[in-house]
Amino acid sequence: MAGEPKRNRFHSLCPYFAMFPESFVETWVERLTKPSQVVLDPFCGRGTTPFQSLLMGRRAIGCDVNPVAYCISRAKTRRISAAAVRRRVTQLESQFNPDEWEASRRRLPEFFRVAFSPLTLRQVLFLRQHLEWRRNPSDCMIAALLLGCLHGESNKSPSYLSNQMPRTISTKPGYSVRYWIKHGFTAPRRDAFELARKMITFRYESALPGGHAEIVNEDMRNLPITLGKRRKIGCVITSPPYFDVTNFEEDQWLRLWFLGGPPHPTQGRVSRDDRHGDAAKYWTFIADMWRMLGQTVSKEADVVVRLGTSRGDAEELPKLLAECGKFSQRSVSLVTSEISPLRRRQTDSFRPGTAGCRFEVDCHFRLH
Ligand SMILES: C[S@@+](CC[C@H](N)C(=O)[O-])C[C@H]1O[C@@H](n2cnc3c(N)ncnc32)[C@H](O)[C@@H]1O
Repeated sequence: MAGEPKRNRFHSLCPYFAMFPESFVETWVERLTKPSQVVLDPFCGRGTTPFQSLLMGRRAIGCDVNPVAYCISRAKTRRISAAAVRRRVTQLESQFNPDEWEASRRRLPEFFRVAFSPLTLRQVLFLRQHLEWRRNPSDCMIAALLLGCLHGESNKSPSYLSNQMPRTISTKPGYSVRYWIKHGFTAPRRDAFELARKMITFRYESALPGGHAEIVNEDMRNLPITLGKRRKIGCVITSPPYFDVTNFEEDQWLRLWFLGGPPHPTQGRVSRDDRHGDAAKYWTFIADMWRMLGQTVSKEADVVVRLGTSRGDAEELPKLLAECGKFSQRSVSLVTSEISPLRRRQTDSFRPGTAGCRFEVDCHFRLH
């Protein structure tokens, strides 16, 4: 496409906590795979591995237990035209009657009524109810575009629907309301249909890749059954939840609500593995990842893992990861490991005031 932006605009469709940059995936895909080979990410988050792999002419499989991750990853790895998505927005807009949504708006907890202006909230409620994002590719794209606009720094940009919030995580309801009242912030009047159209124009300045990835929304432990006897996966590029760093489910509660979840933060409803504070349980979880990989990937497969922790010893991490490799029931060798400098790495965006992540390690293994 002439004049296409240098960075594909679908990469930043919606931010995700502890996301890795596309350059990380690009480097490893280039180094380890050939065109049309399959790349798997069993913890795909915002879908950087499948999306970047498709852009580089590979095939891709992504898995994540969190519906937010699933929706974003699926939207950017399934080709659908801007015209089709625009038509669907127009169709939905023509069905919207604001009066029908006033009662539902009033029933919501206080947070929502301070977070969104009355008209915006009625539109959001309507879209939440009518978008068939699991079944319809246009609806999936609209949902993903809106997930990226649902909350953010609205005093700096007109591209967010909510009152002033971070874009990466959804702050807790009580804290948010106190913060808005203390600073005198009020919800902006934003039109969700208009914003969706604006986002279609902006994102589609870049082309979606050809082909589509297989994205599954489930616990990665189920992959051997879901993927069956296909043993063509020769490369895995992934980043499991870090040890004692964040809870993806709780920190994305508002996006989860938009996709049909309850109107408050939850823990353990979507994932029991987001934030292990107990080392033994965490390493059992990582052992489960190896067990799944042992049953899923081909002979001589490359496995690249980026991992971090808020405590412990950086040198220990590759050793512990490699030790758990025995649960794959295959022979595992550590090819390289590199401790990442903290500066400009994926956990930079962690919430201020928390322990965050002290270091990250990139390990390349071979599964014989
Ligand atoms: C570090 S993030 C991955 C971020 C991703 N690399 C990106 O660039 O967006 C870890 C992901 O693991 C997911 N997760 C947690 N438990 C899981 C499980 N049992 N099976 C599959 N995914 C899981 C979380 O929902 C989260 O999206």
